[in-house]
Amino acid sequence: TEAWGPDDDEPRPHSGPVKVRVPAKINLHLGVGPLRPDGYHELNTVYHAISLFDEITARHGDTLTLTMEGEGTGELELDETNLIIRAARALAARARVPAYARLHLRKAIPLAGGLAGGSADAAATLIACDLLWGLGMSRDDLAEVGAQLGSDVPFLLHGGTALGTGHGEAVSPILARPTIWHWVVAAADGGLSTPAVYRELDVLRDGSWPPPPLGSADRLMAALRQRDPEVLGAALGNDLQPAALALRPQLADVLKAGAEAGAIAGLVSGSGPTCVFLAADAAHAQRVADGLTAAGVCRAAITARGPQPGARVI
Ligand code: C5P
Repeated sequence: TEAWGPDDDEPRPHSGPVKVRVPAKINLHLGVGPLRPDGYHELNTVYHAISLFDEITARHGDTLTLTMEGEGTGELELDETNLIIRAARALAARARVPAYARLHLRKAIPLAGGLAGGSADAAATLIACDLLWGLGMSRDDLAEVGAQLGSDVPFLLHGGTALGTGHGEAVSPILARPTIWHWVVAAADGGLSTPAVYRELDVLRDGSWPPPPLGSADRLMAALRQRDPEVLGAALGNDLQPAALALRPQLADVLKAGAEAGAIAGLVSGSGPTCVFLAADAAHAQRVADGLTAAGVCRAAITARGPQPGARVI
């Protein structure tokens, strides 16, 4: 199957295995606008990919199968509702090829954690199957297929630091001189449902004292350009944080422990319950992680760096 014709550049199937690594995402700014008729909220977000990675390996097979190892995979359904299976089927349908592959997931990104682990796996599957099946689809076409699977999939194909609009699926890169930012990821026990957190925000906004919306990401973008962690820390914001805190009040203890451990700033990641903290450098991040671990407020405190490239073959 790997024979290349002498006279054409047509993509051909890969002999396999194809291994793809994909990062987790955090939102440096998550401005949530009104609820739209299609059930999504309008977003103004700044995505940032960090060094916490899942890995998808794709091999040829006579049918479509998925096996998994790692972080919380016992809780992931291996059926047709799984985002990896759905990604493979959606790509096959788009390209009009049979969805035959043996897929294996090595998971490090916590499930239902607000780090887009599910969307990350879908993005990795699209890249892996595109190569395995020799489809040669463009990133834009893959992003279009991905946007149907999850709002964060197009960003995870892209990676880096990027502005997200629409319901998050419209991604444009932020051109800035590369700066490495140091983070601590505080993983929680148990997940939070993304739709439930958005619904809770709608409830809070219908109440008598609604949290004011963040709006545009201009201040965050200006802060990124200054390359100073103190300035970036002051500009971080997440409209979903009050909703996540309402559903999971213990998250306030995590944020407090991070501040006491010396973090520059901390916030709930996406819809939570993961919290992320900004540090000045790698040694500072390790001290913050150690402080969080000693406080006993999270399942694990992991240091990470961003930005990272999106889903790519390794
Ligand atoms: O796109 P994704 O599958 O990640 O979204 C999961 C759910 O989160 C949506 O069905 C919706 O309830 C909520 N959501 C939203 N507004 C967004 C993104 C997600 O309300 N921009």
